[in-house]
Amino acid sequence: SLRVGVLTGGGDCPGINAALRAVTKSLTLQHDAEVLGFLDGFRGVVDRNVEPLHYRDVSGILTRGGTILGASNKADPFNYLPRGGADVSAQVMRTYRTLDLDALVAIGGDGTMSIAHRLTDLGVDIVGVPKTIDNDLVGTDRTVGFDTAVSTATDAIDRIHTTAQSHHRVMIVETMGRYSGWIALHAGVASGTDVILLPEIEYEVETVADVCRDRERSGQRFTIVAVAEGARRKEGDYVVQERGDEYTDSIRLGGISRVLADQLREHLDTSIRTTVLGHMQRGGSPTAYDRTLATTLGTRAATLVAEGTTGVMVAVQNDAFTQVPLDEIAGKTRTVPLDDPLIASGLDVGTSFGVAVS
Ligand code: F6P
Repeated sequence: SLRVGVLTGGGDCPGINAALRAVTKSLTLQHDAEVLGFLDGFRGVVDRNVEPLHYRDVSGILTRGGTILGASNKADPFNYLPRGGADVSAQVMRTYRTLDLDALVAIGGDGTMSIAHRLTDLGVDIVGVPKTIDNDLVGTDRTVGFDTAVSTATDAIDRIHTTAQSHHRVMIVETMGRYSGWIALHAGVASGTDVILLPEIEYEVETVADVCRDRERSGQRFTIVAVAEGARRKEGDYVVQERGDEYTDSIRLGGISRVLADQLREHLDTSIRTTVLGHMQRGGSPTAYDRTLATTLGTRAATLVAEGTTGVMVAVQNDAFTQVPLDEIAGKTRTVPLDDPLIASGLDVGTSFGVAVS
């Protein structure tokens, strides 16, 4: 019978376990396959750290955040940081052959899909399942984890409204989103945020300050600003933040909100406070939408593996489920298009995106 390895790569997010459960249950119950779970993403493949997964091992995890397999975003086999950035892909191939695997299901984000694509070229049969709170994978309209992160961020901004209103403050709320503003846009519109700053639209400090002043003048003595982690000022003096940590070049959380607060203080006397939502956006139980998305994508990945269709990522496009070749996804980022309908709706209800609209 079929032997399939499964791993969860990159950062954790809500709904990974739901996807893992769907893949495992579908493969074992419907396709009579044997499933092996690699621990800590590609690290487990390199080190051959693996556990058999029976359908009972995944029962009860549908509602749990994180990943029971563990994750790692430092374990790209082509740039393997635990061994000083060495190419250990040969080790991956050895694991794949030694365990006599027919295919690998990789639940992950952009990094995982790029690795999956390179391994495809080496002869590994892979199906990807898209997950990331950032929603920035090309080829799919939604990634597992995004909906939950938006709900969490929306709830947080709702709560921040209380202090903003009571204390007549400018409250800056920083969402995650290194390269794309999907979370900031959706949570911002959902919470009626006054200013939304996205990496896709470079902001002008004066415009943001104008919004605060105009609101003040009209009797709205507070302003909420949602800023995505990767947002940038237009005027040129880009603040390239410190390296995120020793292994990644991720922009340090909290950098942009601090910078923006300082910039606004040069223009306003109002009291300003910042809140960095950070990793709380990646935690917690997945929403019903993320659970159903993960279940559908996971079962489809299992079916594709059983059929022998690999080298693809399962995806949702215009409410229909499909699959996209990995080579169309690898190395790309899906940013918010400027004609996204939610930007237009935001503008219609008076939200500013940090640039003067003529
Ligand atoms: O990729 C998801 C993400 O949430 C980014 O928006 C953020 O920059 C990053 O994870 C932070 O990850 P880490 O946990 O590695 O600091």
